[in-house]
Amino acid sequence: MLKEFFGTSRSGKRTHLYTLINKQGTQLVVSDFGAIIRKLIVRDKSDMSVDVVLGYESLEKYTTNYDTYFGATVGRVANRIKDGKFNLDGKKYTLDQNNDGNCLHSGFNGYHTRLWKVTDYRDSVISLSLTSPDKDQGFDGNLQLTVTFELTDHNELVVTYEGNSDKKTLFNPTNHTYFNLNGHKSGSILNHDLTIEADYFVPVGPNMIPTGDFQLVTDTPMDFRTETKIGKRLNDPFDQFVLTKGYDHHFVTKEGPDSHLGLKTIAHAKGDLSGIKMTVISDRPGVQLYTANFVSDELGKDGAEYQARDGFCLETQYAPDAINQTNFAKPIIFPNKKVVTQTIFKFNTTNESE
Ligand code: GLA
Repeated sequence: MLKEFFGTSRSGKRTHLYTLINKQGTQLVVSDFGAIIRKLIVRDKSDMSVDVVLGYESLEKYTTNYDTYFGATVGRVANRIKDGKFNLDGKKYTLDQNNDGNCLHSGFNGYHTRLWKVTDYRDSVISLSLTSPDKDQGFDGNLQLTVTFELTDHNELVVTYEGNSDKKTLFNPTNHTYFNLNGHKSGSILNHDLTIEADYFVPVGPNMIPTGDFQLVTDTPMDFRTETKIGKRLNDPFDQFVLTKGYDHHFVTKEGPDSHLGLKTIAHAKGDLSGIKMTVISDRPGVQLYTANFVSDELGKDGAEYQARDGFCLETQYAPDAINQTNFAKPIIFPNKKVVTQTIFKFNTTNESE
């Protein structure tokens, strides 16, 4: 176990980094500031250690450049809510408008900017908890939230969220890690191979709010049902890319009313140089693929300078603006009914069998 001082937050609180290690030597470094994943070191096909996530060197960077969401635990509700407004049971709610008039990742006071309390820390497991009071960010209900990161000896990073509120509210947490399976300093991810097990994606209109439709991926750059290089179709004349500057879209990985129940493999990615493969397994109804379109000259850890396309996010969640969209599954939780949701990132190399 290794707990290190990370820095003093702007409100004067001491923050720490916690290292988890499994039997395969995989290492995860998590910060109690923001429940942020700062480092994830796995072995490549030559048995070299590779840090596969983008991150910052200092705590200060995480507090000033919080809108990149590097490694962030995002909540209470991930992604966009149109105009920062929604209705629940006839009551109107107003949230921050922090992104072109819409609410993104719950506004200016996201959970990734808070100091979390470490409630469990062992060799390969850490749990961090947060109390989000009634009216926090504009939502109703005192929400108790715990996120647990576990590194199993099968090289899985298991991320478990537990949420319990005393009032009916929305709950749609995610993790916003940017992966680069060739190593965080290795440049573009456009030659990574990607598979997403989704027949439909959610097209967006201006300011990236869903149109309300589900569109078949067939014959579009959104078809990742068979393994394809991330960059292969990025320059295709596709109307969605004009609006989003790249992939920044929700893929529907589970359909139907019980779509959030049960774990399912939803995506595979592979670093073309490292041979590191990542499988994403989740109980969430969908996943946002984001190709770091808005990252530019971003100074990262170990002297890295990140540009657009130097990482990709696979953020498991409910669809953007789901609460305002008639046909979308809704991230609503009920009073004193604890919700547990899980996403697993499993790593292996092309030298190993799955
Ligand atoms: C999410 C959004 C993107 C972008 C990033 C943060 O993934 O969908 O549009 O705002 O967060 O930069």
